[in-house]
Amino acid sequence: MKPPTPTTATTTTAITSIGTLVTNDPSLGQGPLGLLQDAAVVIDGDRVAWVGTTSKAPATDSRLDAGGRALIPGFVDSHSHLVFAGDRTAEFNARMEGRPYSAGGIRTTVAATRAATDAELEANVARFTAEALRQGTTTVETKSGYGLTVEDEARALRAAARHTDEVTFLGAHIVAPEYADDPAGYVDLVTGPMLDACAPHARWIDVFCERGAFDGDQARAILTAGAARGLVPRLHANQLGPGPGVRLAVELGAASADHCTHLTGDDVTALADSAGRTVATLLPGAEFSTRSPYPDARRLLDAGVTVALSTDCNPGSSFTSSMPFCVALAVREMGMTPDEALWAATAGGARALRRTDVGRVTPGARADLTLLAAPSHVHLAYRPGVPLVDAVWRAGTRAV
Ligand code: NIG
Ligand code: FE
Repeated sequence: MKPPTPTTATTTTAITSIGTLVTNDPSLGQGPLGLLQDAAVVIDGDRVAWVGTTSKAPATDSRLDAGGRALIPGFVDSHSHLVFAGDRTAEFNARMEGRPYSAGGIRTTVAATRAATDAELEANVARFTAEALRQGTTTVETKSGYGLTVEDEARALRAAARHTDEVTFLGAHIVAPEYADDPAGYVDLVTGPMLDACAPHARWIDVFCERGAFDGDQARAILTAGAARGLVPRLHANQLGPGPGVRLAVELGAASADHCTHLTGDDVTALADSAGRTVATLLPGAEFSTRSPYPDARRLLDAGVTVALSTDCNPGSSFTSSMPFCVALAVREMGMTPDEALWAATAGGARALRRTDVGRVTPGARADLTLLAAPSHVHLAYRPGVPLVDAVWRAGTRAV
């Protein structure tokens, strides 16, 4: 989501008596989360100006007493698919009656998205980014991928770009229905005219590398063509079964390999050897909503892999915009501690988007802050399903 344009006259605000402050800067406080108790944060314009204990807080234009509540960096949701129309309630119902998830359901959303007007598509992006903001998310990446024609993909990216700077071209989500008998022709379309029309509107390029979507060679060709046009690769990899996606992501220096549910030892080693260059982005909303086994975050963390948590918000496999829900799932189902899950949902997402200005509360960072109705971030997992977000600042402006 785009921050408001800063005004010229800046004012300073102090948030004081913060029960637990998560800075994600180990030099400012305890442990990897850089935790501070009885803390204060000073916002100057759109930036964090000062962080410390309440008793040492400098004088400011205004003050807000947090009354012992926790303050965390705004969540960074580095993987969502918000440009779509329609929903897939019937498909969800069928799954809950025992039918398996399949990538083929994407075609239902492609048909609805193509039939929607530009205004309807943009209204959906606005609706879901606002929904995410109310749940503490201040940065959202979002993708095309439900248009699958040159014009429908380009208009999807234009709609996304009105709401966020983190826009991803996913023309290679599935082979477009018109090319069902000519997948090579569709890859030529994606790497040619579609990329020409879409590259100016995006920062990233993504491919769904999976059986039933694109294989490793096709994904390599598409990501390489995107990189030649200045787009940075990221990849849907190893979601529904084992495959070449994760190792390809590392080989191409992708910013992230997303899903990482079915991993071999070699996949884990490749991610670890990338030394954080390729982040493993885990999307537990997808396993929740498709009734599938969760990715093994513990195995990745123990191997030294950098892990991010995101929603994958989309109408098929994961229709949630809630980062608190994903944090709770990661702790309960994926072997993460509450500290690890909080880091992954904030600093981890920032790493996956190669951003240093978000995902932490340190002097100079963008003032993206989420105030919780709880004494610490641990309550996000301890009290699942409870609306714990009391207030949100985005780029220094109170947004919730
Ligand atoms: O990340 N895996 C591919 N894309 C989405 C699902 C899209 C859909 O089912 O509509 C995902 O899970
Ligand atoms: Fe996805």
